[in-house]
Amino acid sequence: MEAGINTYFFSFPVIDDLHVNEAIKLEHWIRKADQLLPKGIYEFPIEDDDFIGYADLLHDVTDECVLTRGVTKVFDLYDFKYSNNVESYLKSGQLHEYKYYIEKNHPGWKIRKMFFVFFPKVTIKQRKDEDIFTFRQRLKAELDRNEIQIVEVVYDPTKVIDFVTKVKRILELDEFPKEESRLCAWCEYQEYCEKGVDYMLLPANQRRNIQEVQKKVIWIYGAPFSGKTTLANKFPDPLMLNTDGNIKYVDAPYIPIKDKVTVEGRQTKRQLAWAVFKEVVDELEKKQNDFKTIVVDLLEDLYEHCRLYIYDKRGWEHESDDSFKAWDIVRTEFLSTIKRLVNLDYENIVLISHEDRSKDLTKKGGDKLSTIRPNLAEKPANKIAGMVDIVARVIAEDDRRVLSFKTSEVIFGGGRLKVTENEIPLDYDALMEVYAEANRAAAEDKKDKSMTSNTPREKKPAERNAEPSDDVPNQEAEQNASAGEAANFFDQKVQEAEPATPAAPTTPQRKRRGQ
Ligand SMILES: Nc1ncnc2c1ncn2[C@@H]1O[C@H](COP(=O)(O)OP(=O)(O)OP(=O)(O)O)[C@@H](O)[C@H]1O
Ligand SMILES: [Mg+2]
Repeated sequence: MEAGINTYFFSFPVIDDLHVNEAIKLEHWIRKADQLLPKGIYEFPIEDDDFIGYADLLHDVTDECVLTRGVTKVFDLYDFKYSNNVESYLKSGQLHEYKYYIEKNHPGWKIRKMFFVFFPKVTIKQRKDEDIFTFRQRLKAELDRNEIQIVEVVYDPTKVIDFVTKVKRILELDEFPKEESRLCAWCEYQEYCEKGVDYMLLPANQRRNIQEVQKKVIWIYGAPFSGKTTLANKFPDPLMLNTDGNIKYVDAPYIPIKDKVTVEGRQTKRQLAWAVFKEVVDELEKKQNDFKTIVVDLLEDLYEHCRLYIYDKRGWEHESDDSFKAWDIVRTEFLSTIKRLVNLDYENIVLISHEDRSKDLTKKGGDKLSTIRPNLAEKPANKIAGMVDIVARVIAEDDRRVLSFKTSEVIFGGGRLKVTENEIPLDYDALMEVYAEANRAAAEDKKDKSMTSNTPREKKPAERNAEPSDDVPNQEAEQNASAGEAANFFDQKVQEAEPATPAAPTTPQRKRRGQ
């Protein structure tokens, strides 16, 4: 008994009154069981290739029996249940299966009789006005009022056949639909299952087409009222994450990204817009929705929300409080979250910005040009440009509405997709045609490359002009945007000045061939 109680206590890190109450019950029932049950082998293992079980008690009754031919030992089998649910256990196949497998695994053994031993569950609780001593007196009295029940079970071989048939059916299944029940509370996957997290999903067994851009990531910018939101609205199944409230002309479902004020009792709580946005990204990552396009309208507002959020968290009033560090922290927080957004598993990610004409650029000869670029600080803008396929400007002049990818020194555009047209109508289909064209060009490019595979690969202009490392908010963000992708507004000039020349034929191999 002492060993039993100790095993119970040692299975908990901390013992409180409730554990002691349980130990009182254990002590009571162990003493009773000892008086009531015959001696024998406890926890006898039943194990073969098909079945594993433990017989709680095997009582040897060989001496009481007249042995028929081939029988060497006879037992009574007992199984203990700490339950008041006698009826349902009597339907169980457990003891029938035990008898069958014990006799099968031990030729010459017989199970004569089988019993369930029910230890009643006494579940009275301590009252509020009751001290622990009084309660335990009451508990002991209640235990005394209850009795152990020993119920015989008559062997029924069809129970064994039912069991084996059920096993066969289970093995034949290839679909396992969810069946929610009380038992879910015991399952360690309950949370995943109920939330529908399909974390074990494998991709389709299909080669990916690495040439083709399948997911589209686009950054469009332009003057107010030029048609940016309208264009984004044309994408399939869009969800707009809207900061400016300006969604009058479109019908896409949207989530306002702004400070959320809630009143709980007498407390007013404010959730900052950036926290709202991050929550939305969390939610989108779960993929429990059928949106195909995620739109951010407007990106620069998010940057401002991010700044306010970081300042709030750090208790800063203004950059000057911790100037360099502040920019760095804001930029890192902003870029890493946008990176998560851009990496989301949706068909299209569309970022929208207003345009900024306020910055001047001095040309070589000294002429001033006013630049037109997305309204976002230069460093984060460069990083974002590195995350997208296309940066395009919406131009609306008089009746003319176009999407422009001009890569001249005054217009920020271009990107990783090569486009031959610098300007297309402001139209969804025309934009999709740009992708189709780029994919065709990429396929051609691949063919060319495989034909001249001996030639060392010339560095792409974008790689040569990758940002210097001291210009990086932090290492993580830098690693995220690979050097090859890191575009720069001003790199565009260099790119134009240095047309992509075919790889220089410098390998000795070539020379030899020419000789
Ligand atoms: N391709 C187009 N052809 C003609 N009209 C258009 C086109 N695209 C948009 N418009 C019209 O232009 C107006 C402004 O469109 P929209 O709200 O999309 O602009 P926006 O660039 O998102 O503006 P804001 O910066 O103020 O949010 C709307 O009346 C819309 O119907
Ligand atoms: Mg708009």
